[in-house]
Amino acid sequence: MANIFPRWSNLLPLKIAVCVLSVAGGVVLAFTYYATPKALVVGYQPSQPMPFSHKLHVDQIGMDCRYCHSFVEVAGHSNVPTGNTCWNCHQHIQRESPKLAPLRKSMDPAFPGYDGKPIEWVRIHKAPDYVKFNHSAHVNRGISCVSCHGAVDQMEVIAQDQNHSMGWCLTCHRAPETQLRPLEEVYNMKYDAAQYLKAHPQPEVTTPAEFGLMLKEQFMVAPKTTCATCHH
Ligand code: HEC
Ligand code: HEC
Ligand code: HEC
Ligand code: HEC
Ligand code: HEC
Repeated sequence: MANIFPRWSNLLPLKIAVCVLSVAGGVVLAFTYYATPKALVVGYQPSQPMPFSHKLHVDQIGMDCRYCHSFVEVAGHSNVPTGNTCWNCHQHIQRESPKLAPLRKSMDPAFPGYDGKPIEWVRIHKAPDYVKFNHSAHVNRGISCVSCHGAVDQMEVIAQDQNHSMGWCLTCHRAPETQLRPLEEVYNMKYDAAQYLKAHPQPEVTTPAEFGLMLKEQFMVAPKTTCATCHH
C-alpha cells in the first residue's frame, strides 16, 4: 500500500509552524508600524533631503515663520514652502554651495542634474485622518507655534517636541490661559510673559498667570471639548 503521506511531508508540521510564526511576526510588525502614529513620537527627526536650518534662517537671519509657512494664519493647514520661496534668495546667496544642490536640481535649469521636481521634505507632524486640526483657529487666538512645536528657532534640524495625543489637545483646551499670549507675540519665539508685563504694565495684573486669565477674558477664548470639535 502506497504511503499516503510522502516522505517530504515529515517536514510539513515544521513548515506550517514556520509559516504561522512568520505571518504572526508580520502582523505584529505591521500593527506596531501602523498603530504607532508618527504624531506621538516625541523626538521624531527624519533625515531630510537638504540640511535646512531653522536656527540659521529664523534666529540668525531673523525671518518670520509666515515668510515660508504663509498659510498658517489664514488656513487650517500650514504649508511647507515650495522651492520658489528658497530660490528667491538662493539664486543670489550661496548659489554654488554643495548644500544647496537639491534646491538647484529642482529650480535651476542651468544646473547639470536639473529635473524641476519639488523637494521631497519628510513630514514630521501628522494628525490621523479622523482628527480635524486647524492652525488659524489657534494662532489667531493667541496660541504660539512654540506651544505645539517647541523652540523651532533653536533647531538646526526639526524634531517633534510634543506628543500631540488627544490628552495633550484636551489639557490645553481645558486650561488655555497657561498658553495664551498677546496676538502680536504669537510669532515671537522668545516671548516671555514676565518680561512682557514689565514692558507693558497692565492694570490689576502682576503675574503671568493673572495675565493669561486676563487674555482669556479679553479674547473670549473658550476652546470646545465635545468630540465633534476634533472628530468628524
Ligand atoms: C526659510 C523658510 C522657513 C522659515 C522662515 C520657517 N520655516 Fe519651518 N520649515 C521650512 C521647511 C523647508 C520645512 C521642511 C523641512 C524641515 O522639516 O526642516 C519646515 C518645517 C517646519 C516644521 C515641521 C513640519 C512637519 O513636517 O511637521 C515646523 C513645525 C516648522 N517648520 C515651524 C516653523 C516655525 C515655528 C517657524 C518660525 C519660527 C518657521 N518654521 C520658519 C521652512 C521655513
Ligand atoms: C530671505 C532669504 C533666504 C531665504 C528665503 C532662504 N534662505 Fe537659506 N540662507 C540665507 C542666508 C542669508 C544664508 C546664510 C548664507 C551664509 O552663510 O553666508 C542661508 C543659508 C542656507 C543654507 C546653508 C548653505 C551653506 O552652504 O552653508 C542652506 C542649505 C539653505 N540656506 C537652504 C534654504 C532653503 C531650503 C530655503 C527654502 C526653504 C531657504 N534657504 C530660504 C537666506 C535665505
Ligand atoms: C495648537 C497646536 C499648534 C500650533 C499653535 C501650531 N501648530 Fe503646526 N501643527 C500642529 C499639528 C497638530 C500638526 C499636524 C496637523 C495635521 O496633520 O493636519 C501641525 C503641523 C504643522 C506643519 C506640517 C504641515 C505639513 O503639511 O507638513 C507645519 C509646517 C506647521 N505645523 C507649522 C506651524 C507654524 C509655523 C506655527 C506657528 C505660526 C504652528 N505650526 C502652530 C499643531 C500646532
Ligand atoms: C496650547 C493650547 C492648545 C492646544 C495644544 C490645542 N488647542 Fe485647539 N484650541 C485652543 C484655543 C485657545 C482655541 C480657540 C478657542 C476659541 O476660539 O474660543 C482652539 C480651537 C480649536 C478648534 C476650533 C474649534 C473651537 O473650539 O473653537 C479645533 C478644531 C481645535 N482647537 C482642535 C485641536 C486639536 C485637534 C488639538 C490637538 C492636536 C488642539 N486643538 C490642541 C488651544 C489649544
Ligand atoms: C481637542 C481635540 C479632541 C477632542 C475634543 C476629542 N478628541 Fe479624540 N482624538 C484627538 C486626537 C488628536 C486624537 C489622535 C491621537 C493620536 O494620534 O493617537 C484622538 C483620538 C481619538 C480616538 C482614537 C484612539 C486613541 O485614543 O488614540 C478615539 C476613539 C477618540 N479620539 C474619541 C474621542 C471621543 C469619544 C471624544 C469626546 C468625548 C473625543 N475623542 C474628543 C483629539 C480630540
